[in-house]
Amino acid sequence: MPYIYFYWTKVCIWCIIYICISMYKNEAGAMMETRIYKIGEDISESEYDYIKEAAGVIRDGGLVAFPTETVYGLGGDALNPESSRRIYGAKGRPSDNPLIVHIADFEDIYPLARKVPDIAVILAEKFWPGPLTMILKKSGIVPYETTGGLDTVAVRLPDNRIACALIREAGVPVAAPSANRSGKPSPTTAQHVYGDLSGKIDVILDGGAVSIGIESTIIDLTGDIPVILRPGYINQDMLNDILGDVARDPAIDNKVEGDIKPKAPGMMYRHYAPEGELMIVEGEISAVSDKINELAGMYDESVVGIITTTENRERYDYGTVVCIGSRENEITIAHNLYAALRKMDECKIKHIFIEGFSNEGLGDAIMNRIMKAAGHKVLKV
Ligand code: TXA
Ligand code: MG
Repeated sequence: MPYIYFYWTKVCIWCIIYICISMYKNEAGAMMETRIYKIGEDISESEYDYIKEAAGVIRDGGLVAFPTETVYGLGGDALNPESSRRIYGAKGRPSDNPLIVHIADFEDIYPLARKVPDIAVILAEKFWPGPLTMILKKSGIVPYETTGGLDTVAVRLPDNRIACALIREAGVPVAAPSANRSGKPSPTTAQHVYGDLSGKIDVILDGGAVSIGIESTIIDLTGDIPVILRPGYINQDMLNDILGDVARDPAIDNKVEGDIKPKAPGMMYRHYAPEGELMIVEGEISAVSDKINELAGMYDESVVGIITTTENRERYDYGTVVCIGSRENEITIAHNLYAALRKMDECKIKHIFIEGFSNEGLGDAIMNRIMKAAGHKVLKV
């Protein structure tokens, strides 16, 4: 009798394990082998063959992660609804959050948009290829799966040779969100992509670390005046210089829980978030380091992380300290920010403190990303 009980208990345990694994696989999508190909800046002939292979994967409905100048993108055929569904599945992203459609030549914008306004042409002449995404009214060929159900489409022509070669070889526009699991910081290296998406996508083209490190500026050109929906490397002054007055979606500067709904649905979600709790400390530089040292001392050293700049580095010697560059050169800050947040996760840091930055120029985009990662937790000293 006890033996029968033992036997049935064993059977039940195995059934439970089997059901759990099946549920996990369903949620994550079927696991597959992810191929990684290193591609040098000059793209040798054999490396070009990898790009062609990846382009074939996109045409066949598969997914390819590739470098852009901003962050790595997770690409699929923008005109194939099934590809877009697969992108949402691999990222674990809500399907009402639209994807940016990437092209390699300006003329390719015309089939995607119902109308291409003159200002789109002016902006493209000035900033494309480059980190600017334009929102236009979509044409009939762009499926609602790609635009998250919206009647508009986001289009971008990236400034990266590997990205453009991939898009041209694919022969279709490429829908690509950032190639991270939803809610994680955007990937700035192929290793970040591998950590988040291996087993869920077909190919990663490893073009090394990206140059800018934060996502493109998004500008909505569908209304009477152009509106910035997401700040980026192309800042408001640069856009004002070309277009005169450009508006800014008020939701950019507000907490998202309130009743102001961002026009870029992706800005609504808690984003770019490390696993630990992140707090921004703002103020005069030495007061900031004093406060951070005081707060850090409240926790065990093994769970404290500090993200600092060259100017303040010497002032910290407790916990995991990461220096992301000099305040004199904000592009290094943008470049290293997401890798620093990911490092905090790797080190299982529970309390992260980061110094604040000015909102001028690129600082606007940097502060926007840090604010979102911190869930707007700011301490002014
Ligand atoms: O730099 C970048 O833009 C990178 C690289 C890969 O190109 N891509 C990127 O994609 O950051 P993603 O999906 O992580 O962010 C796209 C943002 C989301 O906030 C989304 O809601 C918004 O763009 N978006 C896309 N289409 C839109 C539309 N039609 N109207 C308003 N917002 C849109
Ligand atoms: Mg993203």
